[in-house]
Amino acid sequence: MANINIGVIGYGYWGPNIVRNFFSAADCTVKAVADGRPERLAAMNKIFPSIKGVKTGDEIINDTEIDAVVVATPVFTHFALAKKALENGKHVLIEKPMTSTVAEAEELIELATKKGLTLMADHTFLYTGAVRKMKELIDTDIIGTPRYFDSARINLGLFQPDINVLWDLAPHDISILTYLITETPLSINATGISHTHNNIENIAYMTVNYNSDFIAHFNCSWTSPVKVRQTLIGGDKKMIVYNDLEPSEKIRVYDTSYNHTTVLDRNTIMVDYRTGDVYIPKIQLSEALSGVANDFIQSIINKTKPLACAELGMQVVKILEASQESIKNKGKEVKIK
Ligand SMILES: NC(=O)c1ccc[n+]([C@@H]2O[C@H](COP(=O)([O-])OP(=O)(O)OC[C@H]3O[C@@H](n4cnc5c(N)ncnc54)[C@H](O)[C@@H]3O)[C@@H](O)[C@H]2O)c1
Repeated sequence: MANINIGVIGYGYWGPNIVRNFFSAADCTVKAVADGRPERLAAMNKIFPSIKGVKTGDEIINDTEIDAVVVATPVFTHFALAKKALENGKHVLIEKPMTSTVAEAEELIELATKKGLTLMADHTFLYTGAVRKMKELIDTDIIGTPRYFDSARINLGLFQPDINVLWDLAPHDISILTYLITETPLSINATGISHTHNNIENIAYMTVNYNSDFIAHFNCSWTSPVKVRQTLIGGDKKMIVYNDLEPSEKIRVYDTSYNHTTVLDRNTIMVDYRTGDVYIPKIQLSEALSGVANDFIQSIINKTKPLACAELGMQVVKILEASQESIKNKGKEVKIK
C-alpha cells in the first residue's frame, strides 16, 4: 500500500486542524511541521510527539523524505512556498485563497502540470455534507433552473492586517458558488469600506454577473455584532436556505416559487405565487477537512484530479482580484478575465 509522507508549513490557527486530519488519514504519515514560532512547535509536539518540528518552510521543502507539502501560512506567503515545493518535486495543498494574484495561480498550475504533480486548494466547504446535498439538489433539477445565490458571512471577526474582508471570508462562498453553478461568471461589481483608515475594507458587498439571468451576491463583514452564515439559492421551482450555524439541520428546501406573465402592453406583469411545504434533507455531518486530506492523498496515489482542484482555486482568485479592482473604482463593473 502506498504511503505519502506529509510536511505541513504553518501551525498557527488553521495548521492544527490540518495536522490532526492528516494524522488520522489513511495512506499517509505526517513527518514534519514547520513554524517560525517555537511556542507553536511546542504546542504541536505536546499532542503529536512523533512529528518532527522545524523552524522554516525550507526545511520541509528540502526534506527528501517528504512527498507532499501543505501550505497553511498567510496568503502573501503561499506562492513562494508552493512554487519552491513544486520545483522540488513535492505535491502541494495550499490553503484558501490559493494565491494573492491570478498570475501566481496560473504559474503554479503550469508548473504542477509540467512536473506531473498534484496541486490542490483547501476549499474545505466543498467537502461538507451540506454543500454536497445542495449540489445534488441543483444537478437533479429539484430546485429547477438556478436564478440567484445570495450569501451573508458576517460577525465580529478578526481584522486581518494584509487582506480585506472579501479575501478573508468570501473564498468559502465563492468556492461554493463555483462548485454549484457551472456557468462561467462574466463580471464583478463590488463596494466596500475601511473604518480603520488603513485602506483595508472591513465591510464589503460583491455582485457576480453572468451572461444568463443568474446573479450572485455576497455580503462580508468583520464588524457585525450578530453572526450570520446564511446562503439563499433560488431556483425557478424551489429555494434552498443554507444556514451553516445550525448544528445539523443546515439545509431547508422551500417548495415555493412564482410564475409571471406579461400582459397587454409589455410593462404590466402578472405574478402568480405558489407556496408549498418546507423540508429538511438529511446531510452527512462528518468533518469536512478529513475529506480534504483524503482527497489530496488519493489524488496523488491514483493520479486523479481532486474536487478542490487548482483550477477551481484559481477561479476563486479571479473573482477576488476583480472585486479588488471594482472596490478601488467605487463599484465599477470589472470583467473577469
Ligand atoms: N480552510 C479554511 O476553512 C481556513 C480557515 C482558516 C484559515 N485558513 C487559511 O489558512 C492559512 C493560515 O491562516 P491562519 O489563520 O492559520 O494564520 P496564522 O497567522 O494563525 O498562522 C500561520 C502560521 O504560519 C507560520 N509561518 C508563516 N510563514 C512561515 C514560514 N515560511 N515557515 C514556517 N512557518 C511560517 C506563522 O508563524 C504562523 O504560526 C491562510 O491562508 C488562511 O486563509 C483556512
